[in-house]
Amino acid sequence: MEKTDLGKNTFIYPMPVTLLGTKHGETANFMALGWLSRANGNPPLLVAGINKAHLTTELLKQNKAFSINYPTVDMIKEVDYCGLVSGRKEDKSQLFTVEYGKLGSAPLIKECPISMECKLVDVYEMPTHNLFVGEIISTYADEEILTGGKPDMGKLNPLLLTMPDNNYWTVEKKAGKAWNIGLELKNMRS
Ligand SMILES: Cc1cc2nc3c(=O)[nH]c(=O)nc-3n(C[C@H](O)[C@H](O)[C@H](O)COP(=O)(O)O)c2cc1C
Repeated sequence: MEKTDLGKNTFIYPMPVTLLGTKHGETANFMALGWLSRANGNPPLLVAGINKAHLTTELLKQNKAFSINYPTVDMIKEVDYCGLVSGRKEDKSQLFTVEYGKLGSAPLIKECPISMECKLVDVYEMPTHNLFVGEIISTYADEEILTGGKPDMGKLNPLLLTMPDNNYWTVEKKAGKAWNIGLELKNMRS
């Protein structure tokens, strides 16, 4: 084999850069989160991998609710700060305008064009992290980033993260329509 062996600790593709919000007493706490994935179709479940040492872990277990906020590229410094500093040391809620939706227990960031509020439904313990499974209760979006009522990445200008080189990326352009662009080949071969 001519390929280079990169070892075990590989990530390869970019992950979304989000801010996970939890209530922290009378205020809120936000941590940067890249390890986020959709985990089920219906009910709509998300899973977030969060280190056991983070304040967020404690707050999630207490509140059983959280928000996922999608920042834009111009929020890059605030996002990075939320990934560098723990809420145990600094009040990170001061960086944003905090508001609440239906749940009333998941702090949302007004400056983020899309935010979801989630109810915690399950926790799976891993050696260093917990997998927190949340059900999406509502998603709130700014009208400007929607096309035909759906989030449009071209308008959103989201941040992506690659590891282990630890870089932020932007999305450049759409490459094709999913569940569609392969139809030509499918028809040709059938
Ligand atoms: C871009 C970025 C993404 C991150 N993603 C995660 C992640 O997915 N899971 C995790 O446990 N920590 C992640 N971190 C680290 C936490 O955000 C960081 O340790 C934070 O200070 C924890 O905050 P807290 O103690 O207030 O909960 C990330 C950091 C950065 C900069």
